[in-house]
Amino acid sequence: MPSTPTGSGRPPESTPPKPKSTPERPGTFGALRRIYPYAKPALPRLYLGMASALLAAVLALLIPQVLRALVDGPLQDGDASQIWPAVALVLALGVAEALLIALRRWFVLGPGTHIEARMRNALYAKLQDLPVGFHDRWASGQLLSRAVSDLNLIRRWISFGLVLLIVNVLTILIGFLFLLNISWILGLLFMVCSIPLWINGFRFENKYSAVARRSQDQAGDLATAVEESVHGIRVLKAFGRGKHALANFASQAEDLRGTEIEKAKAIAGIWLWLILVPDVTFALSLLGGVWLAAAGQISAGELVAFFATATVLRWPVESVGFLLSMTFDARTAVDRFFEVMDSPNTIVDPENPKTIDNPRGRLVFEDVHFRYSDSAAQYPDLVDGVQLTLEPGETMALVGLTGSGKSTLTALTTRLYDVTGGRITLDGVDIRDLTRYDLRENIAMAFEDATLFSASVRENVLLGRPESSEDELAEALAIAQASFVYDLPDGLDTRVGEEGMSLSGGQRQRLALARAIAAKPRVLVLDDPLSALDVDTEALVEAALRRVLDTTTALMVAHRPSTVMLADRVALLESGRISAVGTHSELLASNAHYRFVISSLEDELARESLAEARASASTASGSAGSGSTGSGSAASGSTASASTATAVTNVAVTTTDEVNR
Ligand SMILES: Nc1ncnc2c1ncn2[C@@H]1O[C@H](COP(=O)(O)OP(=O)(O)OP(=O)(O)O)[C@@H](O)[C@H]1O
Ligand SMILES: [Mg+2]
Repeated sequence: MPSTPTGSGRPPESTPPKPKSTPERPGTFGALRRIYPYAKPALPRLYLGMASALLAAVLALLIPQVLRALVDGPLQDGDASQIWPAVALVLALGVAEALLIALRRWFVLGPGTHIEARMRNALYAKLQDLPVGFHDRWASGQLLSRAVSDLNLIRRWISFGLVLLIVNVLTILIGFLFLLNISWILGLLFMVCSIPLWINGFRFENKYSAVARRSQDQAGDLATAVEESVHGIRVLKAFGRGKHALANFASQAEDLRGTEIEKAKAIAGIWLWLILVPDVTFALSLLGGVWLAAAGQISAGELVAFFATATVLRWPVESVGFLLSMTFDARTAVDRFFEVMDSPNTIVDPENPKTIDNPRGRLVFEDVHFRYSDSAAQYPDLVDGVQLTLEPGETMALVGLTGSGKSTLTALTTRLYDVTGGRITLDGVDIRDLTRYDLRENIAMAFEDATLFSASVRENVLLGRPESSEDELAEALAIAQASFVYDLPDGLDTRVGEEGMSLSGGQRQRLALARAIAAKPRVLVLDDPLSALDVDTEALVEAALRRVLDTTTALMVAHRPSTVMLADRVALLESGRISAVGTHSELLASNAHYRFVISSLEDELARESLAEARASASTASGSAGSGSTGSGSAASGSTASASTATAVTNVAVTTTDEVNR
């Protein structure tokens, strides 16, 4: 998937404004509240976790009170018998605190992972649901980083950051009350001294949020770079562009490093305050405390309790800095998650879907217009008023120059894109009035660029109709001339796709064709699915396809004259319209543009044959004797050197022979 020119991996029209400059941008907690629907089932455990943590904090704050009683009571009175119960109480409070902290961990571990899983599933479902147009605009690395690292951040924030932030702020407030209770003067001193901390906390949010957003976007761009270079590793190696790709990657990685350093500096800034303020507060309180004790305003026990309480509060105060940074990171992650989730889906099921009771497969294009959303205003529609009728059972070849919009037109039939004008009907029903499930049950597609998933051959072929029988599977494979699959190490169970065995381009195309055939649709749309096959195999596939096409309506983009000849009629796509429809020979006789397109296809075929002949000839001369393969190749070599018209005729004859057989 190409990265967008903005470099941020987001489409220009959906690029959210920079966090700092948007007045209507919701506050951090407003933004974070959006995950409530995903978090709702996990809330009871989260609340229990918070309650345990808060109780643990209160127990920790009670220890100084015991010390206060100990110092002012038994220690002052010299009553040693009262010391041991107080020590036992401190010990019990400490043990209970530790157990409650363990309980907090146990309570919050589950909810975070559940929320993460729920959000990830929702994101995946949304990505499946969003139209192809969305995927055209978004870089895959950006989607990947949202699905993986952003959700990971959110999980850690929920299980750790959110719980501790709430608990620690409450602990600080309760601690202040304890301090005020011990000595209101010292308590107030403590509170006033912490004001710079709060002010800096808020200033930190503004600074940190923007840089956190930049860092997460750059991480997404980096993921895109890795994904693209792994995907295109062959091209990079073949063109010796490895170093160049590395330089590009290193510069992107350097940008991210710079941003991370900026982030670290922002965190270091808040940490400075977090350490400095409590230390200064301690020093001032010590001064004030000793003076108050000397003046007899507070007891020794109260002074001890005050400093013990302040020590307990030190960690909650210090932790606020990184808990805030975690919260802002999570907010950015939530924003990025909802950018995808909020993307409108324009290709949806109708409110009141219609059904086709007895589908016959009559496909009609009625004044169909289409333009890509990113096409410049001065250009006319790419599909500019297509009128075409495919009768049930008819095979229509779609012919046009490269870039004329053939693939685009075929994509409209399965609503990969929606028409921008006119309509396409199947048996009289606008395809937008059918559910997408119904539509794709009736119309199956095979693409030139055959994609296989990391799954077995069987699963790949039966993708559109998993309930098919073994016979139906075998038939689809036979029609697509894909019997090579039986020779794979595990036959139909061999894993193919990215994680499995690598197949050749032609093998992948044949499996993709088998997939379309196995779906048993009323209408088969084939976007040049035979382009990677050699001429002989193509002829065999076509002969077998003829049997299927007798009962199925087919729209076939044709790049070879032989494929054109397979069709009942041919439609010529020219300047966004169907400029002529007829049989191959009719159009050949009557249409100059058709002759021009066909001659360019013939040239292509001749070049292919010539290349094949050269390859075979070099194999033949390289081998010791001229075996049957060698002489066969020499024969096809002579065919290739003949005129282009002969080449077409030869293929046509092969096709016809196969049909007759
Ligand atoms: N996803 C897309 N977004 C924007 N423009 C696109 C997109 N896909 C194709 N186009 C443009 O639409 C035009 C027609 O492309 P299309 O793939 O339909 O041509 P085609 O007739 O199938 O060509 P070919 O014979 O080479 O396969 C091209 O100019 C192409 O750049
Ligand atoms: Mg195409």
